[in-house]
Amino acid sequence: MSTEDAIVVDSVTKLFKIYHERNQSVKGTVLRGGRSRYEEFAAVKDVSFTVPKGSTFGLIGSNGSGKSTLLKCIARILEPNQGAISTHGRLAAMLEVGSGFHSELSGRDNIYLNGSILGMSRREVDSKIDRIIDFAGVERFIDTPVKNYSSGMYVRLGFSVAIHTEPDILVVDEVLSVGDAEFQAKSRAKFDELKAQGTTIVLVSHNNSLVRSFCDQLAWLEKGDLRQIGGVEEVLEAFQGPAKSKVAAELPTSTGAATIDSVSVVGSDGGARESIEADEPVQLRMRITAHEDVCDPVFTITVKSDRGGPVYRVNSRDLGWTTSALKAGRAVLNLPMLSLPLGAGDYVIDGDVREHRSKIPAAMIERDGAFSVESGPYNSNRTLLQLPTKFILDSA
Ligand SMILES: Nc1ncnc2c1ncn2[C@@H]1O[C@H](COP(=O)(O)OP(=O)(O)O)[C@@H](O)[C@H]1O
Ligand SMILES: [Mg+2]
Repeated sequence: MSTEDAIVVDSVTKLFKIYHERNQSVKGTVLRGGRSRYEEFAAVKDVSFTVPKGSTFGLIGSNGSGKSTLLKCIARILEPNQGAISTHGRLAAMLEVGSGFHSELSGRDNIYLNGSILGMSRREVDSKIDRIIDFAGVERFIDTPVKNYSSGMYVRLGFSVAIHTEPDILVVDEVLSVGDAEFQAKSRAKFDELKAQGTTIVLVSHNNSLVRSFCDQLAWLEKGDLRQIGGVEEVLEAFQGPAKSKVAAELPTSTGAATIDSVSVVGSDGGARESIEADEPVQLRMRITAHEDVCDPVFTITVKSDRGGPVYRVNSRDLGWTTSALKAGRAVLNLPMLSLPLGAGDYVIDGDVREHRSKIPAAMIERDGAFSVESGPYNSNRTLLQLPTKFILDSA
């Protein structure tokens, strides 16, 4: 390893076992004479690269391409089956939401626990705890068990602990996209500061603007293979070229009569929002450019969980609202709502507009307007809906 390199990944392969038996109980295994049938599957295949000290290295690739697995190998949470990884300096990692946190312990106790896992002494944590809490913005809930935290609060606290260890190498998975707009701005500023101090950063992100502003080198993983490594623009283009054309081939084509410029969630101040509270009034907004008149247009907006299917769909015709034409030119469609009572998490929006009875939309947009819902500390993160109610207990 050259003294100029912070990380050397040398021919790393990481295998996972996929078990075929439906019944993986101890009893089942014993009955088969201790054997269980499995297949080995390579999540990362013979990957090599080096990260020079003080540089920022980005990893991109579709879901399941092995990015998180590779980061876990770098952070020594997983052991490669073949190859080796050497790292130089103190390493802090920010991987999955809540990893390394103990749900029954308070935020404060978790700072000590996490700090010690990341190599900080109790005294070091003592001297930094106020800054850690302040950066995470969780003062009010610091003595509440973290199981009551929203995913945004988890991420903010985890990231805050990680950066305050003043690591030489910081490894960050895409979790940071969970935070709200203000926290994202704060983390970007922190990345700048760390970069300026010479911290080596390895990051996975779907956010092109983040990747563009921070990464010196980009690697593209696909199904465990390192497809390309190089400058940011060059690799982004190679990655997005095929990805885009593949998506286009799979989607029903639109007639091209119009273009949906964006769909977004807008706050009461009229600005597009990346983060909302579940109980605040918002509007869903679609901006459209019609290249010709679209007769009897039917508008559909679908809010989808980033991890799953549709959560809420609204269609103008089902609501009984019609208009004779969407005139050629620009238009903006607003749907005011008292609130969007979703569970804490990440969401995206699809939209389409089509002539009534037409199978092919005049225009459509997918996975636009990404936003997250922050919830209070006492709301569950685990459901997609938060409906206002109260408990009334009477003896009967
Ligand atoms: N612990 C595990 N056991 C078995 N398979 C796993 C495990 N962790 C990840 N995988 C699989 O490895 C592949 C790569 O996963 P991951 O590294 O999480 O991808 P990415 O972060 O790029 O979305 C996926 O197919 C995933 O299902
Ligand atoms: Mg991942």
